[in-house]
Order: sequence, then structure tokens, then C-alpha cells
Amino acid sequence: MRGTIIVTLVPTALLVTMGLISGCGGGSGGQSKTARVTTADRQEAQTLYKSRCAACHGQFGRGDGPGAAALDPKPRNYGDAEWQKTVTDEEIEKVIVYGGTAVGKSAQMVANPDLQAKPAVVAALREMVRSFGEL
Ligand code: HEC
Repeated sequence: MRGTIIVTLVPTALLVTMGLISGCGGGSGGQSKTARVTTADRQEAQTLYKSRCAACHGQFGRGDGPGAAALDPKPRNYGDAEWQKTVTDEEIEKVIVYGGTAVGKSAQMVANPDLQAKPAVVAALREMVRSFGEL
């Protein structure tokens, strides 16, 4: 009897664990066409966000960084659920790499051409933008 219980429990535990791991990466239910993100990519993205993005977008993506006051238009609040629903992962990543002008937005949203070579870091930055919507 005992043996049967263990045999059924182990695969279930494995499935749950695998589900959790893949669930973290997706952002949009695993449908994202963008790069696979590792822990190292996420760490690099966190560092980059602090050094390159927070000045305008704010530490928690509220559009309230110290540099935001001088901007017109201002960076939006990523906590805006309506915006999170309408924007695609691809659009977010395109703005980050190619800048605001690439998508008809403000040139004050600067391009980050060096990140073209790091799609997974860009994807991790996009994950951060998404996570600010859940705060
Ligand atoms: C000099 C200020 C500044 C910096 C630095 C900056 N941004 Fe922006 N960003 C803006 C502004 C302003 C907008 C809004 C542009 C508009 O609405 O026309 C914007 C828009 C965006 C958008 C599109 C949001 C939308 O409204 O559709 C994303 C995504 C984004 N920024 C991510 C980033 C990331 C990630 C970084 C760091 C790598 C970064 N930005 C650095 C000013 C900045």
C-alpha cells in the first residue's frame, strides 16, 4: 500500500515544481516569443534598471524618478492595469532597445543599442516592467 502512495505522489510533486519554474519565466502565460531568461539575466536587469531607468521611471516603475519632473510627456505609471493589458511584450522590448521614437513615442525615452546583443536581459527588463504592474 505504502509503495503505491509514494509512486503517485512523486510525479505529482515533480509536475508542480516544473510548473512553478516555467511559470516564472513567461510573463504572458508562456506564450511570449521573446528570449528565455535566467537568474543571471534577471540580476543584470535589476542592476541596469537602477543605473539606467530608475532616474526617470522611478525605483518601482511609478514614473516618479527624480528626472521625471523635467520630462514632457512623463513616463507612465507601470502600475496602470489598463496599460499593462493593452501593451504586448514585444512592444515593451522594442522601446527598451530602440527607444521611444521607434514606436512613435518621445525621444526622451532613450534607446539602449548595446542591449541588442542581450535579448534575455531585455526580456528580464520587460519582466520587471510587468512586475511593477502587480505591486
Ligand atoms: C531620460 C529619461 C528616461 C530614461 C533614462 C528611460 N526612460 Fe523609458 N521612458 C521615458 C519617457 C519620457 C517615456 C514615455 C514616452 C512617451 O510616452 O512618449 C518612456 C517610455 C518607456 C516605455 C514605454 C512605456 C509606454 O508608455 O508605452 C518603456 C517600456 C520604457 N520607457 C522602459 C525603460 C527602461 C527599461 C529604461 C532603462 C533601460 C528606460 N525606459 C529609461 C523616459 C526614460
